[in-house]
Amino acid sequence: MQAVDIANILVLEVRPLPIKAAIFDLDGVIVDTAKYHYMAWRRLAEELGFVFTEKDNERLKGVSRMRSLEILLEVGGLSGRFTAEEMAAMAARKNEWYVQYISRMDESEILDGAVECLAGFRDLGVKTVLGSASKNAMLILNNLRLVPYFDVIIDGTRVTKAKPDPEVFLLGAKEAGVKPEESVVFEDAQAGIDAAKSAGMKAVAIGRPDELHGYDMIFRGLYEVKPREILEQD
Ligand code: BG6
Ligand code: MG
Repeated sequence: MQAVDIANILVLEVRPLPIKAAIFDLDGVIVDTAKYHYMAWRRLAEELGFVFTEKDNERLKGVSRMRSLEILLEVGGLSGRFTAEEMAAMAARKNEWYVQYISRMDESEILDGAVECLAGFRDLGVKTVLGSASKNAMLILNNLRLVPYFDVIIDGTRVTKAKPDPEVFLLGAKEAGVKPEESVVFEDAQAGIDAAKSAGMKAVAIGRPDELHGYDMIFRGLYEVKPREILEQD
């Protein structure tokens, strides 16, 4: 009898905690904004006199604005050529263009299955959290009427450390009142998957298996995600 009890205790101890928060990246997971980031960075590269390809742009996904600029300059062979003030001015110019592009976005640019997925987690009593590096996240969420789908919103204005640092996800879980181990992150960028894992969270990749690694599960888009199955994966 005692042996059975001990066995039960052991089983309870090794069982992972249930998922209580679903944390979503924004760009590339909820909305199709990667193309606008790319258009704006490519325009800056053109001004600087080099070609910035879509393949180069993959390196910018999930990465902060200033780090993106550093990578862009590296691609153009221009690292270390500009002062901090010049870099800040270039990042600001890119952002002006980007904001012009995203201001024209409408609800058709919400990615397939995103709204259903957010609502589905809510229906199961799971907190929905935004964990985005973007300082433009509120503009996008407001324009596309997505704010009501989130219990907690953490964006690039709330954090100091960019992904792959886990700060954005840890703060999201904290504000949701949920432990990191009770959280699942949906991410399209390698930096975000790495951030989720170093936060001690479950990482669901959105993208292609040949482009991403280190995740727990992978789907092509949120349209393939069934919230109940994610919870049952524990
Ligand atoms: C991330 C994007 O969500 O936000 C990156 O994947 C982007 O490409 C970063 O650089 C910062 O965005 P923003 O809108 O603050 O320039
Ligand atoms: Mg992203």
